[in-house]
Amino acid sequence: MGLPITLKQAHISNAKLEELYGEQVKKIHSEMASGTAVGGEFLGWKNLPNEIPTNELEEVLEVAARLRKSSEVVIVIGVGGSYLGSKAVIDALSPYFERNSDDPEVIFAGQNLSGTYMKQLLAHIEGKEAAVIVISKSGTTTEPAIAFRILLEYMENRYGSSVNERIVAITDKSEGALREMAVRSGFTTFVVPDDVGGRFSVLTPVGLLPIAVAGIDIEQLIAGAKDAVSELSTEDISANNAYKYAALRNQLLSEGYNVEILASFTPRFATFHEWWKQLYGESEGKDGKGIFPASVAYPTDLHSLGQYVQDGQRMLFETFVQFEESVEDCGIPTSKDNLDGLNYLSDKTMNEINEVTLRATMQAHDDGGVPLIHLTVGKHDAYHIGYLIYFFEISCAMSAYLLGVNPFDQPGVEEYKKNIFRMLEKPGFVEEK
Ligand code: PA5
Repeated sequence: MGLPITLKQAHISNAKLEELYGEQVKKIHSEMASGTAVGGEFLGWKNLPNEIPTNELEEVLEVAARLRKSSEVVIVIGVGGSYLGSKAVIDALSPYFERNSDDPEVIFAGQNLSGTYMKQLLAHIEGKEAAVIVISKSGTTTEPAIAFRILLEYMENRYGSSVNERIVAITDKSEGALREMAVRSGFTTFVVPDDVGGRFSVLTPVGLLPIAVAGIDIEQLIAGAKDAVSELSTEDISANNAYKYAALRNQLLSEGYNVEILASFTPRFATFHEWWKQLYGESEGKDGKGIFPASVAYPTDLHSLGQYVQDGQRMLFETFVQFEESVEDCGIPTSKDNLDGLNYLSDKTMNEINEVTLRATMQAHDDGGVPLIHLTVGKHDAYHIGYLIYFFEISCAMSAYLLGVNPFDQPGVEEYKKNIFRMLEKPGFVEEK
């Protein structure tokens, strides 16, 4: 078996990249290893796949099995890092149309403030056995808190004194309103570790519980991430694709390529783009710096954004994620009349044509002056998605450090919150001058 992820690019020679970034990468690698890097108190995700306590994993599997048995629909409440990772993995690994009959439907709330969405969600779960997983590291984020207040009232009215069997809270070990509610009400709880920030938390119960509830093999997900930890542990940029990716991004930024587009040809991978955007956007976009992370789902977006990518302002580079092995395929039938003129394709399958379209697109964008990075992932399964998660996490941290920012804070996210509290006249809110 080859490497789970390979990286190809033709923008800069490996020797030049090593000359420009090799030493800096080594220094940052050792600062991350010793915890002396800026934000070092949030490096808990770095060896997390090897450190998930057996009893915690067993408990996640046990609670997931209980919810799967008792519920037809499970509502996961959270926003940002408290929902994107689980949604990304569930979407990437679930069938497009029909769920397996044993798998409950997993839906999300608290990631928006639409009253219409909530009303329709409540109507959708009516008459179905339901459970709620509420996730907030801080335990005080407004969007999920509002969703939980509404859904808790609904669940209490419906299930009375047995409601606690159907509520799980995942939050800080001791702080925040959600922890206090969980303690008072006796909900089942899991802890978000202090040293793991929201966008790096998909391999904690934050991601693992909803993913397991959806029927996805979390042990395989963790196995992939564990292999990534060991295979991406070298300080040597020439032998570490995650660090190479990080250096390349910074090199491209220094040449004026300010926008990175993550592109894939696998529709159910599109939510993973959203997780990736948060990971890189929140980690790097600060102090007036950073690459703007964008994404496209091809070939759909070839017919919308394709024109810009090919021919618009030359400030973009593109990172393609290609899965080598597809799960199922569909042949092209031969037609007697050939009125659509497609008989020339009838010895091919859709996935083969998808792959040709990917190559054709890469060639066109290369010709159009878009620098390309090509990541190939060995197989579309839980193991490889777990590997990919860690690949992007470790390269994101390295990339942010190369850029000269703290990857683990998000001071900008606070600004709009202050405005809401002021506008909604939150009791006790005092704006700092
Ligand atoms: O990555 C992050 O830290 C953020 O995106 C948070 O996950 C998001 O703001 C939600 O925060 P919390 O989990 O505290 O409700």
